[in-house]
Amino acid sequence: MPASAMYSRQDLSLRDVGAGIETARADAPDEAWWELAVVVPTYDEALNIAPLVGRLEAALSGVSWQLVFVDDDSPDGTWRIAKEMARLDPKISCLRRVGRRGLAGAVVEGALATSAPFVAVIDADLQHDERLLPEMLALLRRGSCEVVIGSRYLGAGSAVVAGLTGRRRWGSRLANWLGRKALSMELTDPVSGLFMVKRELIDEVAPKLSPSGFKVLFDLLSAQETPVRCIELPYEFAPRAHGRSKLDHGVVAQYLSLLASKLTRQVLSPRAIMFSLVGATGVAIHLGVLKAGLAMGFAPAQALAAVTAMTSNYLVNNAVTYRDRRKRGLALLTGYLQFCGLCSVGLLANVAVGSVAQQHLHVWWLSGISGAAVGAAWNYVTTSLAVW
Ligand code: GDD
Ligand code: MN
Repeated sequence: MPASAMYSRQDLSLRDVGAGIETARADAPDEAWWELAVVVPTYDEALNIAPLVGRLEAALSGVSWQLVFVDDDSPDGTWRIAKEMARLDPKISCLRRVGRRGLAGAVVEGALATSAPFVAVIDADLQHDERLLPEMLALLRRGSCEVVIGSRYLGAGSAVVAGLTGRRRWGSRLANWLGRKALSMELTDPVSGLFMVKRELIDEVAPKLSPSGFKVLFDLLSAQETPVRCIELPYEFAPRAHGRSKLDHGVVAQYLSLLASKLTRQVLSPRAIMFSLVGATGVAIHLGVLKAGLAMGFAPAQALAAVTAMTSNYLVNNAVTYRDRRKRGLALLTGYLQFCGLCSVGLLANVAVGSVAQQHLHVWWLSGISGAAVGAAWNYVTTSLAVW
């Protein structure tokens, strides 16, 4: 057998380009090699960018590192400032994503854009302690673990987290507890936004990671085939200096659907779970309106109930289920018209099935549910494909 036949097609093509890679490497200046990429997701953080860069420079002196901002087209123009800094400093880059939202997706894309062997993730708002980064890097270099996490709930100051107030404190503890149970890992802060990992950990599971929500560390840990070694380092979560938090009820709902998706072993995606929950609220609204409108006759009441539920489903799905592609302004209206167009067939089926059921069963709520179920199945399939 000739030697070349022993190589698979992939090996051959890698061998072919191998020489080119060597040439490119020989020409490259030493500084072109980065050991660490610091990925910073940003949304409306204009005033925090310059102070953050200053703090990272101070913390990482002596390290060969690069800084990757991933901005979701912030209305306050954060990306303009980040790009201006990138123009002046070759180790800084800024990816501006348009028409998309999501902390997790931004972090994953930033990590996928680098070739540095280690990737750190840190918030832009100065709430995290960047002075942990050198120790995190040292632990990974030594091979002591694959993931280092900055924990708000370890060591001194863990009882009261300065940067979290009232309800957020309890919510954060609950999110941590749920995350710990779902991961079966004894971590004090599995939903931390400050961590450092070997890049290959992200590369391997990137297609499985959810782009929406905040819990990228949790998602990353639970996506690993074999358990990874984690070390937590304590730090004090500082209050925000400028701007406001983007963690809202929608983000909480996204986290819960991510946990639920893990419980189904990913048979149902977080989005499908969210869509079903929104559908359930639609059914409740449908039945409420149907009951209130029965006096005008079953068919018109069923139609009115369906339109009300459809409108509510559209708005809630747009705000929560598809918040990473959320429609606003004119697009919100055209999306609604599209949604209604697609759902009108579902609505006809809904009213027809409901009416037939009512003629035979004479149980208004059972007839209502049968009609709604047929309509909902149609709506889910068609709108998830076409509208968002
Ligand atoms: N690109 C992008 N897109 N960045 C975003 C988005 C988004 O949709 N939403 C938030 N960010 C950025 C913010 O600009 C900030 O740099 C960082 O992500 C964290 O957002 P905050 O809104 O400040 O989050 P927080 O302080 O309330 O939440 C903290 O605790 C969570 C756990 O409870 C953060 O540390 C989170 O990372 C952490 O998951
Ligand atoms: Mn913050």
